[in-house]
Amino acid sequence: MIDNYQRNINYLRISVTDRCNLRCVYCMPPEGVENTPHREILSLEEIARVVDAASDIGISKIRITGGEPLVRKNIVDLFESISANPQIKDISITTNGVLFADMAEDLKRAGLNRVNFSLDSLNPDIFRDITRRGKFDDVWRGIQKALELELHPVKLNVVAVRGVNDHEFADFARLTRELPLHVRFIELMPIGECNPWAVENFIAAEEILMKLQQGFGPLNTEVKVTGGGPAKYFSLPGAKGTIGFITAISQHFCAACNRLRLTANGQLRPCLYGQQEFDLKTPLREGADRQELAILIAKAIRYKPSQHHMEEGWTDRRVMSQIGG
Ligand code: 5AD
Ligand code: SF4
Repeated sequence: MIDNYQRNINYLRISVTDRCNLRCVYCMPPEGVENTPHREILSLEEIARVVDAASDIGISKIRITGGEPLVRKNIVDLFESISANPQIKDISITTNGVLFADMAEDLKRAGLNRVNFSLDSLNPDIFRDITRRGKFDDVWRGIQKALELELHPVKLNVVAVRGVNDHEFADFARLTRELPLHVRFIELMPIGECNPWAVENFIAAEEILMKLQQGFGPLNTEVKVTGGGPAKYFSLPGAKGTIGFITAISQHFCAACNRLRLTANGQLRPCLYGQQEFDLKTPLREGADRQELAILIAKAIRYKPSQHHMEEGWTDRRVMSQIGG
């Protein structure tokens, strides 16, 4: 469906849980955030009903996110029901990768097309510090498995944090020479608890690009990657993979935004940074049919704002793990 600003809204990101098996410093406090009670979370069957209704008004791409989506029980079944819908052409997942390796084959069989890993460091000690509990080797095994199963393009999301991983940007870039990996540097967003800290440790994409060009010489531009979304892509000469930048802060990409988000508790969010939400859980539980749901989703699309105002600060009660990034 085309929204009020001529954008074709064809992409739905679904947070299937706000729980996570990690505690990344920029995302959650050490003790985690209070989990939404089970009954408040949409069932897998309810999520599939939303997908079917959304597909009737032009949604053709689905991304499963969290929290960490792979901690959700029976998550493979959801991929199966979504891929049974012929209007859905692309199903992807954003995962921290900890549980991925052992589930990868089942996920692929159930319809998973491609995968994004959140991985902020290639150094196991730094990785553990950032995630407060993750084992780098588990994630690396997952990434290798994704390559082996050809879940292309395999992307690595790297949130850039000054003083934490800013000495590793060249290492991430080097990875793309040998492996068909698509590294995307993400600007740290002042979301949730980490507000002042995120502002202090922010690194603009422009600075990362400049550093890489100093080290490697000019990068190739005009690179295209499937599902490229808001990232701008570059590559090292002769590389198998690419290097991208998600500049949520320094240059917003609202004019090309094609997405809606469904929170784990069944609220449809037209904009990641806008607090406006449309309740789907209540109608789902009151027996709304596919067409009624589609009408509600269309309404949310009509309310999608032309752009966000994140630079004015984050006043939301929600944190990233509740919205799904
Ligand atoms: N700023 C930038 N990226 C973030 N993510 C989570 N919190 C933040 C933040 N404050 C990222 C994760 C993951 C994606 C879903 O969102 O690293 O890659
Ligand atoms: Fe979990 Fe992702 Fe948040 Fe890290 S950023 S704690 S992996 S939800």
